Amino acid sequence: MFPTRAYDCPLMARVLSGIQPSGDLHLGNYLGAIRNWVEDQGDNDAFYCVVDLHALTLDIDPAELRARTYDTALDLLAAGLDPDRCTLFVQSHVVQHSQMAWLLECTATMGELQRMTQFKEKTAGQESIRVGLFIYPVLQTADIVLYDADRVPVGDDQRQHVELARDVAIRFNRRFGDVLVVPTATIPTTGARVMDLQHPERKMSKSVSSPLGTILILDDPAEITRKVKKAVTDTDGEVRYDPEHKPGLSNLLELLAVATGRKPAEVAAGYTRYGDLKTDTAEALVELLRPLQARRAELAADPGAVPALLARGAAKAREVAAATYDRAAEAVGLLGPA
Ligand code: TYM
Repeated sequence: MFPTRAYDCPLMARVLSGIQPSGDLHLGNYLGAIRNWVEDQGDNDAFYCVVDLHALTLDIDPAELRARTYDTALDLLAAGLDPDRCTLFVQSHVVQHSQMAWLLECTATMGELQRMTQFKEKTAGQESIRVGLFIYPVLQTADIVLYDADRVPVGDDQRQHVELARDVAIRFNRRFGDVLVVPTATIPTTGARVMDLQHPERKMSKSVSSPLGTILILDDPAEITRKVKKAVTDTDGEVRYDPEHKPGLSNLLELLAVATGRKPAEVAAGYTRYGDLKTDTAEALVELLRPLQARRAELAADPGAVPALLARGAAKAREVAAATYDRAAEAVGLLGPA
């Protein structure tokens, strides 16, 4: 029987998550994922990666991809990831991601990938669809299982991808023995789906959101305040948490709730006027992001530090990933080098 872990760390759960280097990070990334990554480090054996291979599924200028990968790592450090308490690395620095993806692609089916909502959304109306975009979720599965991850902290939009990872891992184990750890998504109760401030029926996102509807984590206080003040609400005038009928207002309540550690309905009880809610939400977000922005400025002043930290992270990640890959390669029957 194969071991289910590359190395034993019995008191800690293994956690893995990833983020695309697709430009400036926004409040959705921060509240839905990164904030929880920071919470999870230390108490868990946490691995976080900047998934540059995933970014190749879309058209991106090579120089820009390199710059964004670096900037994303910088943003994560600024947000509070501590390389002494977690393993932070760049996906392409660990070759086993692509190798493992191939083993898994040979077990995944066209049908299950065709059902992925993000794939359908990203390819709607396109005539020529890249294979990379289609198999993207299997590379994501490889990211997860390589680290024997028990938990995957993500926003709500990644729920389906983690479900797929579970299905693929279970099927692989059924066919080849107890090789892969089957992961579970951890999705926060508040902030899991931050909506666009101008189009509150759709999620805040790097690719489709409007500039005024998206708060970037590096927006200055005046910009944050302007965006919150201009947020679309409704005309019935009642402050009530009701995402279905009052999506814009409920989004603001959720933002203020998550920034102040409360529940949205509790926050709603304290307001009668939309204007007051907006003022307080803007202030809370400015305060929430202030320390991150200050750290970001400090880190940017020492550009040599980040590549060294990423090299250290990759070395540690490689050890774990290589052991899992070797286990999986042996299980499927690859001969392996002498
Ligand atoms: P990505 O880069 O789109 O987003 C990174 C994280 O941010 C969360 N997120 C949101 N949360 C709340 N509200 C929003 N509006 C919002 N927008 C984004 C996402 O849920 C995610 O947790 N496929 C993944 C990257 C990935 C990955 C992995 C994740 C690759 N390999 C392995 C987990 C494990 C993605 O494109 O995330």
